[in-house]
Amino acid sequence: MLRAGPTGKLQSRNPDALRLGLFESDAVLSPLPDRLELSRPDDWHLHLRDGAMLERVVGATARVFARAIVMPNLDPPVATTAQAEDYAARISAVVPDGVAFTPLMTLYLTGETSPEEIARATASPVVHAVKLYPKGATTNSSAGVEGLDALAPVLEAMERHDLPLLVHGESTAPGDDVFDRERIFLEGTLAPLVERYEGLRVVFEHITTADAAAFVAESSSRVGATITPQHLLLNRNAIFEGGIRPHHYCLPILKREGDREALVAAATRGDPSFFLGTDSAPHARHTKEAPCGCAGIYSAPVAIESYAEVFAEEDALQRLEGFASHHGADFYRLPRNEERIVLLREDWQGPESEGEGPESVEVFWAGRTFRYRFGGFVR
Ligand code: NCD
Ligand code: ZN
Ligand code: ZN
Repeated sequence: MLRAGPTGKLQSRNPDALRLGLFESDAVLSPLPDRLELSRPDDWHLHLRDGAMLERVVGATARVFARAIVMPNLDPPVATTAQAEDYAARISAVVPDGVAFTPLMTLYLTGETSPEEIARATASPVVHAVKLYPKGATTNSSAGVEGLDALAPVLEAMERHDLPLLVHGESTAPGDDVFDRERIFLEGTLAPLVERYEGLRVVFEHITTADAAAFVAESSSRVGATITPQHLLLNRNAIFEGGIRPHHYCLPILKREGDREALVAAATRGDPSFFLGTDSAPHARHTKEAPCGCAGIYSAPVAIESYAEVFAEEDALQRLEGFASHHGADFYRLPRNEERIVLLREDWQGPESEGEGPESVEVFWAGRTFRYRFGGFVR
């Protein structure tokens, strides 16, 4: 819980948040529970990549999460049901032995997507949604869409088949300020889209602003949103803490402290429209530590622990299960997981890196202390 101290500054019990200059210490707060049990969570926004990278990262998600919405921004994109089924098979083939994990596949919406493809996707047991990337908005989005008008027949088909549309919500006009792109997209594109297709279920992915949180909270239950660990734990100062920090660069970019607080409130108050989506997005170190570094933060190895940190901070651990394990399943009309996991109160150091050298992947909150550790499954 953040509390206003005598100086009016916010207090926190998280030493790393203190280091980032977000809060001040000397807080007197209630003790944290030693043990927390929750339904096994799902990750409703995940990048697994393909080939060697897929093999390296899939286990980090599958160790905790039962299912994940797998984003289709491969190069070339996963644009057809047949491609999504092949990709699902490649993922399942490299899930570590003895681990149960179901990839929930998505199609990449392009200018070529047809209403017939939407019908095929709906009929396929592996495809669960279609992803909209505005052309040029983010990693591997060059195949994305330029305007939505030409896609009306496809969006109407999705509405008819009740197949959710997932949206990377940022405007792409070169003159738009990078910190305003989500708001511009929300006002100019997303709000009109939600109004025009009144039966379409929409997930506003990885929301980053107070405006986006308010829009989703005020919309009907057919509009949901995922929230990442980095947007709950960091504000934009983290990109420039003592120098430029490429491992804190993702899209949409981190925003102001007031935005972060609004996201924390949305995630922790029990509103079923908000659910866990890590946007864990691995990039090899040399592609991020570069003159033109890639956008994306790899959080899978510390994902549930990072969210626990946020909920602990808010004295809202009793609502972590809804956010992590119930709201997303309910939105996607999938059964909630029956398995249960344990989180143990124990200070531990997160891993800094997956692998070594230029091909390694820096892990979110590298090497910092977490207060909850994943303690396995309830037998
Ligand atoms: C994601 C990636 O690397 O695929 N990057 C990111 O910064 N979030 C793409 C995305 O989710 O927009
Ligand atoms: Zn995105
Ligand atoms: Zn993403």
